[in-house]
Amino acid sequence: MYAYKITGQKKLQGSVEIQGAKNAVLPIMAAALLTDEPVELTNISYLSDVKVLSRLLESLGMKIEALPNKLILRADTISSTHADYEFVSKMRGSFWVLGPLLGRFHEAEVSLPGGCAIGTRPVDLYLVALREMGADIKVENGYVKAKGRLRGNEIFFPRVSVGATHNTIMSAVLSEGTTVIHNPALEPEVIDLLNVLVKMGAKIEGIGTKVLTVHGVEKLHGCTHKIVPDRIESATFAAAAALTHGQILMKNTNLNLMNAVADALRISGVVFEQRGSDLWVDASKASLTATPITTCEYPGFPTDAQALLTSVLALSKGESLVEERIFENRFMHIPELQRMGAQVKILTNQSVLITGVESLSGTTVMSSDLRGGVGLVLAALAAKGETIVKRIYHIDRGYFQLEEKLKALGADIERIHLDD
Ligand code: UD1
Repeated sequence: MYAYKITGQKKLQGSVEIQGAKNAVLPIMAAALLTDEPVELTNISYLSDVKVLSRLLESLGMKIEALPNKLILRADTISSTHADYEFVSKMRGSFWVLGPLLGRFHEAEVSLPGGCAIGTRPVDLYLVALREMGADIKVENGYVKAKGRLRGNEIFFPRVSVGATHNTIMSAVLSEGTTVIHNPALEPEVIDLLNVLVKMGAKIEGIGTKVLTVHGVEKLHGCTHKIVPDRIESATFAAAAALTHGQILMKNTNLNLMNAVADALRISGVVFEQRGSDLWVDASKASLTATPITTCEYPGFPTDAQALLTSVLALSKGESLVEERIFENRFMHIPELQRMGAQVKILTNQSVLITGVESLSGTTVMSSDLRGGVGLVLAALAAKGETIVKRIYHIDRGYFQLEEKLKALGADIERIHLDD
């Protein structure tokens, strides 16, 4: 198994290319199932989640050409509508093939994604929406078995769900009649999917608002699309700059995607400046200062950046209350941070109180999930001495060549092989 060996307290300086968003590329790859024409996607990084979804789509008969920075997906020879447990269990986003398969082929058998380290993550909202649209759905032997020609209806989401929004919209675009979706997610990755569907010929009104109206069409066509920048990778490098008093030019990203994270870092004197398509982050005069954080739906503070900022707050003067409102179990990195010297009081499963300390010290820690793992990498970049971050396969799910990017900025980081 691979681990990172990091010697901290090196100031990060230079420029870094921001990848296309993991959370946009996954639903958009699934959307390629909706047409028999090629869908060409650029700004692609070969994250392990992209590889897992590619294997699943190929198992359905999709042809995928993986070029440098570009994917071409062709769904003109789909031979199966069965998404196997082997793939869906590895990555929850694979479950999103359900909507497009059902929409285009009127049947789908997709493994339930199961639990996940950060919470139970049910799919009830997905299934209610599909039933409202007339699908016949059975849940048997760990699979969702869905069939039927979908008809437009009015869908009210009682909670905001990114995944349920993706899935419902992808099933609605080829359905009969009009579907109105109330309370959809507004995350930039959802907007990116909606923009792709419009390029493919879908008729969607209300993009970016809390009511989406989808007029079903008979057929969609191919398109080319550049994936939106990854706001969580951007937040990662911004946090890395803050923790090392660094100065980083993040290429190909946009401050508007990450305002809530930027606001939290500005309290500490971190300066953000949009320079054309690049974002300059200057923390050379920063003085890390406590601030409360509550995660919520976009445009609020993203749950995926909670662990990143927790590491910053561990070194920020004063007390910071961090509340996690999206997932029920997203503080698994905290005991590992405590082992590095962070002072954190766990109040409940969903809230912690952090008292900033002067410094953290390196030790061996273990990633338990993607963002928690990256939070530990960030803490290690600021810590005194050497930290080993184990189980970085979690991190590879969402970051491409993270160590190479950090190294180019001046970090002392190496990928090493360990026996366990
Ligand atoms: C996506 C993102 C993930 C991010 C999350 C919230 C991808 C690949 N993953 O996950 O990185 O942290 O959005 O921004 O894009 N819920 C239900 N019933 C459902 C569906 C969801 O109760 O049918 C609940 C979930 O348990 C959770 C909340 O709704 O508490 C939000 O989940 P959701 O927005 O669906 O997250 P994902 O789409 O799984």
